[in-house]
Amino acid sequence: MGRFDGRVVIVTGAGNGIGRACAVAFANEGGTVVAADLEKDSAASVVEEIERNGGRARAHQLDVADEASIVELIEATERDLGRLDVLHNNAGIHETQLTAEARSDQLPTEVWDRVVGVNLRGLWLASKFAAPALARAGGGAIVNAASIGGLVGYPMGGAYGPSKAGIVQLTRVMALELAANGTRVNCYAPGNTETRMVTQYFEGDDGQVDEMVKQQLVGTHLLGRLIRPEEVASAVLFLASDDASAITGTCLVVDAGTLAWRGINA
Ligand SMILES: NC(=O)c1ccc[n+]([C@@H]2O[C@H](COP(=O)([O-])OP(=O)(O)OC[C@H]3O[C@@H](n4cnc5c(N)ncnc54)[C@H](O)[C@@H]3O)[C@@H](O)[C@H]2O)c1
Repeated sequence: MGRFDGRVVIVTGAGNGIGRACAVAFANEGGTVVAADLEKDSAASVVEEIERNGGRARAHQLDVADEASIVELIEATERDLGRLDVLHNNAGIHETQLTAEARSDQLPTEVWDRVVGVNLRGLWLASKFAAPALARAGGGAIVNAASIGGLVGYPMGGAYGPSKAGIVQLTRVMALELAANGTRVNCYAPGNTETRMVTQYFEGDDGQVDEMVKQQLVGTHLLGRLIRPEEVASAVLFLASDDASAITGTCLVVDAGTLAWRGINA
């Protein structure tokens, strides 16, 4: 018996990193997963992995920045799979390098628009169109990817940080609004997790690791290592499952002890 037997789960940004680990974990626990991603091939590859393990999944090309693309995803899910029980809003981008051009007083306007457009507006749109489908299936859960970068300030985070802080607040607002439908809405805030979003800062295309930069990122963690995507997936599945039936409107921090120690500006 899996916690998601008979349930249909959409994971946005399922092709890579944390989303991929979550898609695999949802399927391992009996969920039928809609692996939605901007990158068609990445979505197809996670579906292959799930099916190889004996799970159920389908790939869907999605751009969360495009309203029509989201409407199409929700319609196709209900039409083809009959219901929607969980929306995992994972898709997100960071974009800015840790350079002076990423400072808020120098950040190109189009970068701010893109980051906030994908991370915050895209997440809101997906939630907006999923909410009626979740209600039709009896309630279900929305689980949103925030970040510790949305809980404390950090340099060069002028677009990403506010987009993630906005997600924490949208989570509270939608939890209030959707409670009457039986829908729980929560978010989680990971620290530095070993995905390309983070490894790009210390790993070159040739696989060479800049140990100094890596240690700066690891050094913010009380546990002395980066977080594995599967460890974030454990928190996501908890929030999406009936194990969290009394939890709504909250933010679960998954940061290897960063905030307890000294924040992300090590
Ligand atoms: N890695 C970390 O340290 C970390 C920390 C805190 C929060 N997060 C958040 O977790 C989420 C996943 O991050 P990750 O590290 O796995 O990143 P990643 O870059 O490995 O994966 C992100 C996925 O989202 C997809 N995506 C990007 N734009 C999209 C769009 N417009 N529509 C649909 N899909 C899109 C990408 O194709 C990719 O498959 C993000 O929201 C990120 O902000 C990550």
